[in-house]
Amino acid sequence: MKRNSLAFALISAMSAVSVPHAAAQSAPAIPGYTMGQKSLAKAPYTLAELESLKKTLLFTDEDIRYLRMSKAILADQTEAVLDVWYGFVASTPELVVYFKNNKTGAPDGAYLGAVRKRFGQWIADTADANYDQAWLDYQYEIGLRHTTPKKNKTDKADSVPLVNFRYLSALTIPVTTTLKPFLAKKGASAADVEKMHAAWVKSVLMQTILWSYPYVRDGQF
Ligand code: HEM
Repeated sequence: MKRNSLAFALISAMSAVSVPHAAAQSAPAIPGYTMGQKSLAKAPYTLAELESLKKTLLFTDEDIRYLRMSKAILADQTEAVLDVWYGFVASTPELVVYFKNNKTGAPDGAYLGAVRKRFGQWIADTADANYDQAWLDYQYEIGLRHTTPKKNKTDKADSVPLVNFRYLSALTIPVTTTLKPFLAKKGASAADVEKMHAAWVKSVLMQTILWSYPYVRDGQF
């Protein structure tokens, strides 16, 4: 009961925040969203290494096609998807701790709300990623933002210094499992829903692997 009310409070606090669905260029700027900006560091892994990672994940052009199919299906469901994902984090004490305010010890609504806007953009970005250098560089940036070099900096949050590594790829499962019903809501065939879901699992796992770079000892990534 307590957990549910926390989840409800967090979701209510955040649902005031609107999330543009279109690419950042044509939508109102999302604070802290810096895909494609020159200020970003170059990723420490190459496009060729990305291709090898794709191969290892059995991530093919067919997956890219199914991710693109999911974009239109998810476009007007972004807020509902985010409610479910934020509800999961809010009701899981092991996870919500990474959004806590150091002074109050309570979840930081402003921090959660600011990240939520970029999370909404990330849904669209994952669906129509083109896997170029700008995309790769932003993967590195997202990894930094989960770890001590950059966590909290974008939103000037006073929170814990990093998300522990063990949870990063683990969250792929709740994120993609809870996405599946949304993929099925717009009349796609059961086979297409399966393929879109499989493509999302591969893409999210691949991204969390790329985000893991800052956690790995030099030369071992
Ligand atoms: C499948 C795994 C995950 C996905 C898809 C994901 C997605 C994202 C995205 C899209 C952002 C915003 C990136 C940006 O600034 O543009 C973000 C930030 C953040 N995520 Fe994750 N995340 C994952 C795992 C986790 C886990 C396990 C936690 C722990 C609760 C977490 C906590 C955070 C926090 C605290 C931020 C804000 C970082 C900052 O201060 O800038 N994430 N995440």
